[in-house]
Amino acid sequence: MLQKLPKEKHNHDILKFPPGFFWGTATSAYQVEGGNINADWEDFKSAGLACDQYNRYEQDFDLISQLNHNAHRLSIEWSRIEPKEGQFDQAEIEHYVKVLKKLKSLNLTVMLTLWHFTLPKWVADIGGWENRQTIKYFDRFVRRVVPKISLYVDLWVTINEPGVYIYETYVAKEWPHSKKSFLGQVKTFLNLTSAHKKVYKYLHSLFPGGKPVGIANNILSFEPYHKHSLLEQLTVSINDILTNHLFYFLTRGTHDFLGINYYFHVRFQHGNLSTGPINLNQTHEISDLGWEVYPEGIFDVLTDLADDIPIYITECGIATTNDDRRNRFLIAYLQEVARAIRAGVNVRGFFYWSLIDNFEWHRGFEPRFGLIEVDYQTQQRKIRPSALVYTDIIQHNGIPHSLLRFIGHTVQAEEVLEKRYKEMLKESQK
Ligand code: BGC
Repeated sequence: MLQKLPKEKHNHDILKFPPGFFWGTATSAYQVEGGNINADWEDFKSAGLACDQYNRYEQDFDLISQLNHNAHRLSIEWSRIEPKEGQFDQAEIEHYVKVLKKLKSLNLTVMLTLWHFTLPKWVADIGGWENRQTIKYFDRFVRRVVPKISLYVDLWVTINEPGVYIYETYVAKEWPHSKKSFLGQVKTFLNLTSAHKKVYKYLHSLFPGGKPVGIANNILSFEPYHKHSLLEQLTVSINDILTNHLFYFLTRGTHDFLGINYYFHVRFQHGNLSTGPINLNQTHEISDLGWEVYPEGIFDVLTDLADDIPIYITECGIATTNDDRRNRFLIAYLQEVARAIRAGVNVRGFFYWSLIDNFEWHRGFEPRFGLIEVDYQTQQRKIRPSALVYTDIIQHNGIPHSLLRFIGHTVQAEEVLEKRYKEMLKESQK
């Protein structure tokens, strides 16, 4: 077990978060479990064994607990539970009961996603979310499984990132069943809104007044390249409405919280889209995927979306093999979250993406998002120092000012953080 850091009383040198804040990480079943042979991705780009978390969940969850998290977000795999139309596999439902029970035995708050991108092959064969029937099938799946697992779930996420799913399938055409079809995009979007509303109502009928329900939406921070360009401003507004607001608008009244996945800052230049740095002399870092590190963006989206319901940052993370970059990422993004809270935004939790390195969809296993490193040959786990920076923040329920000064000072940060966390690392691996 990690040794708890001494907590100073009345310490004003900590950027505090509200009491009861949820600190955790997020994963999705297909990306970590392995062996999901009945999922549509299998015939497209298989995750194979992935992190073998299907068999190693106890060990992984023990690490979560050692790292002092108090919450965890994960998903269940529809294709495992209903491999053939109407045939529900009780053993797989039982498996998830065990998985969730384990999380509860560690006193973790559980946020469960019911659909995170993958479909059973038989659902994909009838057209996936483009087909209205899928709403009915999804609802039936949810009604079968929820009563069995609900005891161990605290918050529900009905669906993950409808916009990303549509973008990758119909625009970037990187995901299974990709095709060019505007009508397909619209149908999928509308069917996902209907599925969410239906499942929301069902979950509320089961737990009147309890167990909050929402979605996890990918929210982008948009900006015009030229502040005074009306054309660019207009492009920003249209994209903001379509990407960040439309789903919520069409499903208004059916969200107990807003789940925000934040990864991207996008600048529009005369209609051209750039998710990268503003120019070659830029000072912002980028991830191994070329995504700009732009902490201010999370403040912008939080203040933009602030409503009278709580907000959870259901995902936020960086793909990098440079763990010091991840340290700075965590500190800088959380500092912006704290700033948004001080500005009055009701943020109640943060789930770093991701607990462990995992299958990053069409990009495979190369991007490393984990607080815990995975050796895919041996399935060995190794806690990264950034996991301990996160633990440090969690134990203080805030960011010690000593960490804040590392932002922007790469070399110093590397040296000092390494020294500080070497000891913790040794402790945690005992
Ligand atoms: C998704 C995850 C994905 C992560 C990093 C989110 O869009 O929910 O499944 O791995 O971003 O790309």
